[in-house]
Amino acid sequence: MKKVYIETLGCQMNKSDAERMFGMLEHLGYTETTEPKEADMLIINTCSIRQLSEDKAYSAIGVWGKWKKTNPDLKIVFAGCVAQQAGKTLFQRAPYVDLVLGTQRLYELPNLVKRIEAGERVVSVEETPYEESDIKINRVKSINAWVPIMEGCNNFCTYCIVPYTRGRERSRKPELILSEIKKALAEGFKEITLLGQNVDSYGKDLDGWNLSRLLREVNALEGNFRIRFVTNYPTDITEELIDTVIELDKVCEYFHIPMQSGDDYTLKKMNRRYDFATYKKICDNLRNRISDVTITSDFIAGFPGETEEQFQNTLNAMTELELDYSNTAAYSPRERTVAAKWVDKYIDEDVKTERLARLNEHNRECCLHSNKKYIGREMEVLIEKFEGVNEGARKGKNVITGRTRNNKIVHIPYDQDITGEFVNVKITNARTWYLDGEMV
Ligand code: SAH
Ligand code: SF4
Ligand code: F3S
Repeated sequence: MKKVYIETLGCQMNKSDAERMFGMLEHLGYTETTEPKEADMLIINTCSIRQLSEDKAYSAIGVWGKWKKTNPDLKIVFAGCVAQQAGKTLFQRAPYVDLVLGTQRLYELPNLVKRIEAGERVVSVEETPYEESDIKINRVKSINAWVPIMEGCNNFCTYCIVPYTRGRERSRKPELILSEIKKALAEGFKEITLLGQNVDSYGKDLDGWNLSRLLREVNALEGNFRIRFVTNYPTDITEELIDTVIELDKVCEYFHIPMQSGDDYTLKKMNRRYDFATYKKICDNLRNRISDVTITSDFIAGFPGETEEQFQNTLNAMTELELDYSNTAAYSPRERTVAAKWVDKYIDEDVKTERLARLNEHNRECCLHSNKKYIGREMEVLIEKFEGVNEGARKGKNVITGRTRNNKIVHIPYDQDITGEFVNVKITNARTWYLDGEMV
């Protein structure tokens, strides 16, 4: 048996792609190893959302390239979002790479591996997506199964590289999605997360399908499990989707709706199709209609030209909208994107760092504020992990962790590993990143 090691950077879409790569490679006689030095094939699954993630990819393969000098049979695969963009230019930069595999060509991996095993060096980044077939997926052991439903983006926000790395929006066929979910449920997964850059676009390219219909079909599958979906584009959330979330018992009360900035001028410059008032209306509507709904977001600090006052609008938005949690990042210029060309408007690195720190501090306050709402409440928790003896706050006691339907993490003192069970928990305390609870 040959061994393959995959290092995955970036978002859940990349993690999900890696599970598919493992599945396909198993058919070719590869087993997974967690030790890169033991591997016959090394794959890096790259992310180009920010310069830092791209740099990480190049430094990893730099190290692997050196190993190849003493082990010339070693195969090195450069995959993912940086690969899709770099294409054949990568061979100049990293001549030891055997295969450059773009995101659009994922399902072609078996054929390509056969070619590199025969000594060829191959670049496969054509933008026509390779037709996928029903493949085996080696999922990471957890209670949650990631299931891509669509890929790509048509929005071209001025800061973002994703439309260039994941291509235009495309939906996966519902029968493939449903058969994949049935298999995951049969394997014991208790939570299904439908994944896409813009899940609201699901079905636009299929006859008679949209996200709501897909959710209804998934909800109708037998078994006790939860359904989630990420990511929503603010103005694409329809009343039908909200009705569906309310109506379907397995679909959880959780929306991830990146806002990016709380400032109207900045939003325009980002090419986002809403202003603060519109986003607020969307949040208000969700909170009015869905009790206990959790709304999380993403924000960028230091977008080109952002003034201190405009940045303050982002901080104020976080507070006013009572966002439950936000991912934050300092703006990173990405080649080919529109905003990257506004060099004279770039914000100094130290200002960006300082704004990011304030954004993070604000986020912590918002999270704690949000968590405090749940003290004293009884909530259903799906147990995800037996943590064992906790050295921190729960000194000396065994702790299990899980999530509420609305995606709050809960720590519970408990002596047995009951991972995968649904339990009722009374919330006793709120911390910044999680809740403390006791079994009811
Ligand atoms: N499709 C999602 C986001 C996908 S990218 C949406 O429309 O919101 C994930 C997050 O990375 C974005 O929400 C954004 O906050 C961040 N991001 C994207 N490009 C970035 C850049 N150039 N610099 C810093 N953060 C960026
Ligand atoms: Fe990037 Fe905007 Fe598309 Fe999200 S919607 S992936 S931020 S271009
Ligand atoms: Fe990164 Fe590509 Fe995901 S750029 S965030 S791995 S879609």
